[in-house]
Amino acid sequence: MANLKGKVAFITGAGSGIGRGIAERLARDGADVFIADIDMEGAELTANLVTQLGRRAVTVKANVASQVQMQKAAADCVSQFGRLDIAIANAGIGRGGSVLDMALKDWQDQIDINLTGVFLTVQAAAQQMVKLGNGGRMVCISSLAALNVSPFMFGYSATKAGVAIMTRAWAQELGPHGITVNAIGPGVIETPLAQGLAGDPGGAIRTSLESRTPVGRVGKPADIAGLVSFLVGEDGAFMSGSYVLMDGGLRDSRGGWEPEAKAVEEMGKHMQAAEARRAKLQPLIDER
Ligand SMILES: NC(=O)c1ccc[n+]([C@@H]2O[C@H](COP(=O)([O-])OP(=O)(O)OC[C@H]3O[C@@H](n4cnc5c(N)ncnc54)[C@H](O)[C@@H]3O)[C@@H](O)[C@H]2O)c1
Repeated sequence: MANLKGKVAFITGAGSGIGRGIAERLARDGADVFIADIDMEGAELTANLVTQLGRRAVTVKANVASQVQMQKAAADCVSQFGRLDIAIANAGIGRGGSVLDMALKDWQDQIDINLTGVFLTVQAAAQQMVKLGNGGRMVCISSLAALNVSPFMFGYSATKAGVAIMTRAWAQELGPHGITVNAIGPGVIETPLAQGLAGDPGGAIRTSLESRTPVGRVGKPADIAGLVSFLVGEDGAFMSGSYVLMDGGLRDSRGGWEPEAKAVEEMGKHMQAAEARRAKLQPLIDER
């Protein structure tokens, strides 16, 4: 457990899934948390979890694809808390499609959020850290997909590989300012974004995934949050420019799955849920 008493963590996309898990964990470690998300309902739920742990939380509606909004968010963090010690560039979306007919808008949204959004988050947070002069810790959420490709996820993989490589460059530039920058590559983590891949507990998708994952289970936001806690705490002080894969061993064992009828049926249900969630988030993504 890291001792983050007196530190402030700036987290994008902390209104759901992995970002929420990171907010909770860093609050347990003693940090106050600044939550930047487009989904304020989710952001407020996370803020409640943080305050229940006895830490301060501030939420702000900010789209990582907007430079103006990210600059303002990082400045607000410093004006509210007087500090910005840790930045987690976590917000992301998944847009699949065939190379033959993927919509340009889907491609562009994914680039704007997953790639440009990480750049704009790191830029805004780094400017504040350099100005404050206390150094800092940055973690960018990449993916196992930075290393593996699957046919319809080429755009997602491109953004996540981009995050991993940008992280190495930023570690070089920001090191002299006392700032470390690392990337994490989660495998399949049970969150609303990955529900179609993770499946339901006991269902056909989950059973197959568990059998193909060496550690025998799906990942949880708390798994990734534990690694973040290490990277931003004292024990992670000598680590910078790294990409750390946390996938339960799935990278080398995921091929060759032919989903049976039950799994296909379950996939249809998850695709419907994903469409409904997208319909809710898309207008917020388009507000920049
Ligand atoms: N869940 C997985 O299996 C998995 C695996 C590898 C990598 N990741 C990555 O982890 C990160 C978090 O994913 P998750 O699974 O928790 O997803 P999630 O959908 O549960 O949460 C993503 C959060 O980001 C917010 N968000 C989306 N677009 C935004 C924008 N433009 N500006 C600000 N906030 C925005 C959403 O409102 C949501 O609160 C993403 O970068 C994702 O690509 C997830």
